[in-house]
Amino acid sequence: MRVLVTGGAGYIGSVVGAQLVAAGHDVTVLDDLSTGFADAVPPGATFVKGTLRDCAAEVLADGVEAVLHFAAKSLVGESVADPAKYWSNNLGGTISLLEAMREIQVRTIVFSSTAAVYGEPGRTPILETDPARPTSPYGASKIAVDTTLTEFCRLYGFGAVSLRYFNVAGAFQGADGRWLGERHNPETHLIPNVLAAATEGRPVQIFGDDYPTPDGTCVRDYIHVADLADAHLRALAAARPGQHRIYNLGNGAGFSVREVIEVCREATGVDIGVQAAPRRAGDPAVLVASSAKIQSELGWRASRDLRAMAADAWRFTQARSPR
Ligand code: UFG
Repeated sequence: MRVLVTGGAGYIGSVVGAQLVAAGHDVTVLDDLSTGFADAVPPGATFVKGTLRDCAAEVLADGVEAVLHFAAKSLVGESVADPAKYWSNNLGGTISLLEAMREIQVRTIVFSSTAAVYGEPGRTPILETDPARPTSPYGASKIAVDTTLTEFCRLYGFGAVSLRYFNVAGAFQGADGRWLGERHNPETHLIPNVLAAATEGRPVQIFGDDYPTPDGTCVRDYIHVADLADAHLRALAAARPGQHRIYNLGNGAGFSVREVIEVCREATGVDIGVQAAPRRAGDPAVLVASSAKIQSELGWRASRDLRAMAADAWRFTQARSPR
C-alpha cells in the first residue's frame, strides 16, 4: 500500500516508517525537519521536506492510500510556555492535512495521540472510556484532534485509529543496521536523560521524591518503540470507513523513576548517581494504561520489557557516541 508518514524523520515516525518499508509498503515521509533528522528517514522511503500546510495536498495526490500522522510538537513544558504554537501546529496542521485528504479522497488515517489527553487520572489503569481532562495545551491539542477525527469519520466517511501512547522508550535497529532512537533537543524524557548521565559520568536528577507512591517517585507505563510500531501496522490494517477507533498503548505495568534508573544501571554497567530535584510542574504521580482493548480487538501484545528498552536505548546512545 502507498502510505504517507508525516513526521517520519522523528523518533516514533522513523521507527514506524522502517517497519512499514520492511512490511512491503511504499512509504513517503513528509517532515519539515523542525525537530526531526533527515538521516532517520528509512532507506527505501521517499522523503519530502515540508510542512503539512504547504505540502500535504501535493504529496497525497501522488497515489497515497493511507496516512500515518506523527508530525506534531510534543513537549508538555513548551506547550505551557507557548500554547499557540501547539494549537497551530497540532490542531491547525492536522486540519490542513485532513482537508487535503478529504479533497483527494484519502480517508484512512492512523493518529499519534497521547496519554496526556487524560491529565491527572481518576483511576489506574486508565481505560479509553475514562474522561479526557488534559492538564497541558499539548494534551488539549491532541484531544482536539481526536474529536476532529471522530467528526471526520461520522461526516465524511474517514476511517481513523487514534493510538494513545504512554511512555515510549527504547530504540530500533533498521534493516541497514542503523539504530533509530530518541534525539530530542532539549531531551526531557527519563531514559535518554539517565543514559546521558551514564555517558557523561554525572548524576541524573529525580524530579520529586515525595509522591504518594511506594518509593516516592513517579510511576509510568513504559512501552518499547518497536512494540508501538507493530501496533501502528495493525491499526492501519484495522481502519474502516465511518469508524474512529481509539486505543491506549502501554504495557499495563508501572515502574517508578528509581526502578527505571536501576534497570539503566544494569543495562549500562555504570553506577549512575542520582540527585533529588523539585517536582516538575504538571507531573501526575501515576500513569498506567489498560491496553486490554487493543489486545482483544487487534491482537496486539507488548513483547519487550523495560530491560529491553534500556538495553536498546543504550545501544543507540553508544552507536551515536562511541566511547
Ligand atoms: N524524570 C526525572 N528526571 C528526568 C526526566 C524525567 O525524574 O531527567 C521523571 C519525570 O518527572 C516523570 C518521569 O521521569 O516522573 C517520566 O518523565 P518523562 O519526561 O520521561 O515522561 P512523562 O511521563 O512526563 O511524559 C509522558 C509522555 C508525554 C506525555 C506525558 C503525559 O512522554 O508525551 O507522559 O503526562 F505528554
